[in-house]
Amino acid sequence: MRALDVVTAKRDGHELTPEQIDWFISTYSRGGEIADEQAAALAMAIFFNGMTDAELTRWTSAMIASGTTLDLSSLDRPTVDKHSTGGVGDKISLILVPLVAACGAAVPQLSGRGLGHTGGTLDKMESIAGWQPQLSPAAMVHQLEKIGAVIAGATADIAPADRKLYALRDVTGTVESIPLIASSIMSKKIAEGTDALVLDVKVGSGAFMADEARARELAAAMVRLGGHHGVATTAVLSRMDNVLGRTAGNALEVREALDVLTGGGPGDVVTLTLALAQEMLRLAGLDADPAAVLASGAAHDTFVRMVEAQGGDLTRGLPEALHRSVVTARRSGTVNAISAREVGVAAWRLGAGRARKEDPVSATAGVVCLVDVGDEVEPGQPVLELHTDDPSRLATVAALVTEAVDIADAALTPPPIVIDRID
Ligand code: URA
Repeated sequence: MRALDVVTAKRDGHELTPEQIDWFISTYSRGGEIADEQAAALAMAIFFNGMTDAELTRWTSAMIASGTTLDLSSLDRPTVDKHSTGGVGDKISLILVPLVAACGAAVPQLSGRGLGHTGGTLDKMESIAGWQPQLSPAAMVHQLEKIGAVIAGATADIAPADRKLYALRDVTGTVESIPLIASSIMSKKIAEGTDALVLDVKVGSGAFMADEARARELAAAMVRLGGHHGVATTAVLSRMDNVLGRTAGNALEVREALDVLTGGGPGDVVTLTLALAQEMLRLAGLDADPAAVLASGAAHDTFVRMVEAQGGDLTRGLPEALHRSVVTARRSGTVNAISAREVGVAAWRLGAGRARKEDPVSATAGVVCLVDVGDEVEPGQPVLELHTDDPSRLATVAALVTEAVDIADAALTPPPIVIDRID
């Protein structure tokens, strides 16, 4: 087989054969025979010509087969996980994983680090003193048996073809292709060994997919891929125009997740967590009431056990930024929106996120929203609080976020956070 023939077939709009797909993915993943420019050309041809359902299913299977698959069949609880396409202030996993475990499921969440303006779950968890992201497969199974909840770093042998292809797509303008995104996400989740999966597909100005029609298309493609691989999959479309909750930044978000786990926290975070928990429990065949379990404190206890099992110590407190400043309202009126994108970029510039995957992140940097959508504000009233250990960043970031809080004369009713379910 020749890479050039595969590239030209796709370029000319032909359906790739299963043999072509298997050969291309396994050979590229091993390295050597297929040059990066040939893989990039194929990604671009897929970007323009798409993939049939049969191609996409085979492509995803080949990506899974490029590495190892975890075997969770020894567990006596049903396994179910959640994946989010990424949002600003999205600390849902920190609450949802222990909550669904406390309801009787095993949640094997392998997660990544943040890149760009949305944060990564591992970066958030690492703001807890001592917490270690890396678990061996055996340690993961043991923790799932004992506690039912794991948040850990995906190892290099889970879908290695995706790691290589994603890095290439990132520098060749081919990230935003629905089949390439769907196969990338689903290959990693299916390789994790979960029986069921709920996808939180974000829609809106702060999301990877701003357009609802495209988000629906992505969700449907991933749901089909899950089904074809024996993983019961449902997608929830949720809004990502405003910051989720009141904080964006690693330790700040852990604090807020703990607030929800102890019965408080912002309403939108609670609503979305419970909606996703209900879907996960439905797929796992468990008849539990997640709101009651959250209120009972059992999810909090599970969170503490999950953290301690990975070396974390919550009694040492969460780190706090050395410097803070506030951004004030420029006029009176009602808060109509708190732009997820602008706040996400601000948190990132304050040190909470990374531009390149090798960059370090600050545990303490971030943004706290001091007002909610719907609140009345007066000129000069503090609306955002910026946190950082590097005071030289404060003035530039403050200038960036002056328009992040949209204040209008008349109040708009914010639309519900959950838009739809696709299964
Ligand atoms: N996240 C992924 O894991 N892969 C993509 O292609 C896009 C977002």
